[in-house]
Amino acid sequence: MSIHIEAQAGAIADRILLPGDPLRAKYIAENFLEDAVCYNTVRNIFGYTGMYRGERISVQGTGMGIPSISIYATELMRDYGVRTLIRVGTCGAMNRELDIGDVLIAQGATTDSSLIRNIFGASINYAPLGDFGLLCKAYTAAGARRIPVKVGNIISVDRFYDDEIDNDKLREYGILAVEMETAALYTLGAKYGAKCLGIFTVSDHLLTGARASAEARQTGFNDMVTVALETAIQ
Ligand code: HPA
Repeated sequence: MSIHIEAQAGAIADRILLPGDPLRAKYIAENFLEDAVCYNTVRNIFGYTGMYRGERISVQGTGMGIPSISIYATELMRDYGVRTLIRVGTCGAMNRELDIGDVLIAQGATTDSSLIRNIFGASINYAPLGDFGLLCKAYTAAGARRIPVKVGNIISVDRFYDDEIDNDKLREYGILAVEMETAALYTLGAKYGAKCLGIFTVSDHLLTGARASAEARQTGFNDMVTVALETAIQ
């Protein structure tokens, strides 16, 4: 057991999918995995281990934001020995290259969080990167299923409601989308020597104000989960 996860040793697979929403973890366990067993209910951050195409895999919620995902990612890697962690989440598009429902892979995760300064001090602007091997596998898995996918830099912000952020400048410098967790996952993955990747579906568009319909959300979500599972088992 760790402080926030009540699983027994060995109950979590060495590969895991990480949605923010614990009910998404339940949905993935019920709809994509076989013989899934729930190993965590602490704080309703549900975690399950089951089988996908003959391979053992887990799925667990992380909650929202860098502080919350940092707790779960640290305990999964440090206390349970998880080696491959794939975040599956939604993001807000900041770029006209992206449409509602599109799948995006975060090559890098810029951040306005104090996380980087806390670790490295003021003089180093560390660049949190996704694992290149996982990224290649995810890109290939998406292509094989004719799921269109974009790859690039995102920003993991500390505030969902942020009137001060300069989205025009971020767009100018190639940031494709905004979410709230991946910079921490990539940084902690580097610290603990684990492979990490963030895969997203676009749920809203900051330029147009468009939001995904329930149907687009579900289709995009299922595409993203399929890509993540296929990546994790390779
Ligand atoms: N901002 C931050 N995180 C998000 C957003 C957003 O617009 N959409 C989905 N996750």
